[in-house]
Amino acid sequence: MKRKLNNILVTGGAGFIGSNFIHYIFGKTHFEGRIINVDKLTYAGNFENLKEINNKFVGERYFFEKADICNFEKIKNVFIKYNIDTVVNFAAESHVDRSIYGPKDFVQTNIMGTFTLLEVAREVWKKEDYSQLLFHHISTDEVYGSVEEGKYFLESTAYQPNSPYSASKASSDHMVRAYHRTYGLPVTVSNCSNNYGPYQFPEKLIPLMILNILEEKPLPVYGDGRNVRDWLYVEDHCSAIWQTLNKGMVGDTYNIGGENEWENIKLVNFLCEKIGQLQGKDKDYYKRLITFVKDRPSHDRRYAINCNKIKRDLGWRQKFGFEEGLDNTIKWYVNHQDWVDRVRSGEYKKWLEKNYGLR
Ligand code: NAD
Ligand code: TYD
Repeated sequence: MKRKLNNILVTGGAGFIGSNFIHYIFGKTHFEGRIINVDKLTYAGNFENLKEINNKFVGERYFFEKADICNFEKIKNVFIKYNIDTVVNFAAESHVDRSIYGPKDFVQTNIMGTFTLLEVAREVWKKEDYSQLLFHHISTDEVYGSVEEGKYFLESTAYQPNSPYSASKASSDHMVRAYHRTYGLPVTVSNCSNNYGPYQFPEKLIPLMILNILEEKPLPVYGDGRNVRDWLYVEDHCSAIWQTLNKGMVGDTYNIGGENEWENIKLVNFLCEKIGQLQGKDKDYYKRLITFVKDRPSHDRRYAINCNKIKRDLGWRQKFGFEEGLDNTIKWYVNHQDWVDRVRSGEYKKWLEKNYGLR
């Protein structure tokens, strides 16, 4: 059965996946309701990512509220003001390396923020008929820990997080599940593998390597470079979330993945070759930039997802091959140097205040 979605609260909608998701909804679905984007605009959130959507739909089908998901009163006001029936919770601190150097923000936003959202939903939705409401929580495959060669994460795999980031995500996933079991809150959870694509902050592997290659800077590969990640093009993640919102079973978890495993070093070599080709250089020209650096503490060796459940139950499929997805991504970064400069410089905050009066 298809759920009726009217007023969707997207938290963290100015971030990488959140902004791709909002573009996806307006550009690739028949959704006719309203999107309310709540974002605190941390270093990773860029209002500018949704400039075209804002220009076209603001005040009618698109609304932006600058707020922290930890602020109960503000979130409650948003729920009431827009008559929210669906939540998609992307808002999070998302970078493992940052969580190692400063775990506090991860505990605050990922755990306390999710808890606050759940509390608001429980309070505001308590008098409603739950059948047309849904709280969808976005999570990661990193909660399952590292998996040995030949094995895959299933929805039933026990959680074994190894970084402050994954531990905070695991904690929020457990809270979401507990609110369903304890209070009957209608929830779904999805655990996805590594995403790549436009608008990703250039601290994560793929955009960092693309930009460093283009700028001929060292390409820092952690440890021996043989860690394995499963890569999914962000639009494929968005379509999986959309299917889950429409048809997902309340109380269920769905694994989402690219079925596309790569050792980091092979991926970095591949990017060097692709960009070399694009720039008319010798195939191996950029490989001299590869620099092995000290390993990340507690670096998970391999992530690998089994996503048969969402394929079987919701009919989802990946649409983008890796070459196509990478080509799109490389071209996007080449053509958006202004975006890159702005998110890297901190100038963005001034731009935001000047153009939109947001601080
Ligand atoms: P991101 O860091 O690019 O964006 C996070 C967004 O959340 C930003 O816009 C930021 O301003 C906002 N935010 C942070 N703290 C907030 C707060 N307290 N209140 C309101 N907004 C706040 O992250 P992303 O890569 O787009 O990831 C989105 C979600 O998907 C996260 O929950 C992450 O755990 C999950 N996820 C990411 C990946 C990936 O590969 N990037 C894979 C699987 C799951
Ligand atoms: P990242 O993009 O940070 O995602 P995650 O840690 O959440 O999987 O890193 C992907 C992989 O690339 C991971 O094994 C760490 C590695 N890595 C490097 O080798 N060098 C880098 O500069 C970065 C950012 C990551």
